[in-house]
Amino acid sequence: MKKSILAIATVLLTLGACTTQDGEKPETAAPDAGQAAIENIMTRTSIRQYKDQPVEQEKIDIMLKAAMAAPTAMNQQPWHFIVITDKKVIDQLAGPRPTNAPLMIAVCGDTDKTSMPDGKGKLPDFWVEDVSAATENLLLAAHALGLGAVWTGAYPAMEHVAEIANVLNCPQNIVPVAIVRVGYPDESPEPKDKFKEENISYNKFGGKKE
Ligand SMILES: Cc1cc2nc3c(=O)[nH]c(=O)nc-3n(C[C@H](O)[C@H](O)[C@H](O)COP(=O)(O)O)c2cc1C
Repeated sequence: MKKSILAIATVLLTLGACTTQDGEKPETAAPDAGQAAIENIMTRTSIRQYKDQPVEQEKIDIMLKAAMAAPTAMNQQPWHFIVITDKKVIDQLAGPRPTNAPLMIAVCGDTDKTSMPDGKGKLPDFWVEDVSAATENLLLAAHALGLGAVWTGAYPAMEHVAEIANVLNCPQNIVPVAIVRVGYPDESPEPKDKFKEENISYNKFGGKKE
């Protein structure tokens, strides 16, 4: 398990080193990284208890790079990330659900970045999917780096969105979608097996595997 975490971290660090400019292609990951990547996905689980240990800036940078590598409709990248390490702000955001996480990352939509590339009108609300994909990438990167994380929801619970936006001084166009709590894990829950055959159809709804 440790080996696979190291392999993923190496891949992410390599990507980090080779993708700085818009439009530049990342190098292809090493072939044996495939198995490690799948293992990382399958072993991620929500972590809610953390050690009293800060998260290094290098790891924060990798998580942010992974988040912004997510697919995004028409490549609009309608997101903004607020990195929170100030304990006072963390406590304010946690409210009635206190946490000992040393780090939170607010993953927000930027509704000013949702216009059609040709400037004719707005995209549908794909920004929610884009920001959600970025959030999942962030969770996977955290796990690959030996950190634990949990997604706590905001959008579309608008009262909660307003509270968070207020604490974080967000302008009108910056909409908090998720607050990801991150830290070194102080618990080791088993990943849940959520694979269910009944959630799959083939060819048409209800169709069986041949
Ligand atoms: C949109 C969304 C909102 C969530 N909100 C919360 C939350 O407010 N508090 C929390 O502890 N977990 C929250 N979670 C985490 C889920 O409870 C967790 O992903 C689910 O139980 C499956 O467990 P796993 O992540 O360990 O696979 C949220 C997850 C998603 C995707």
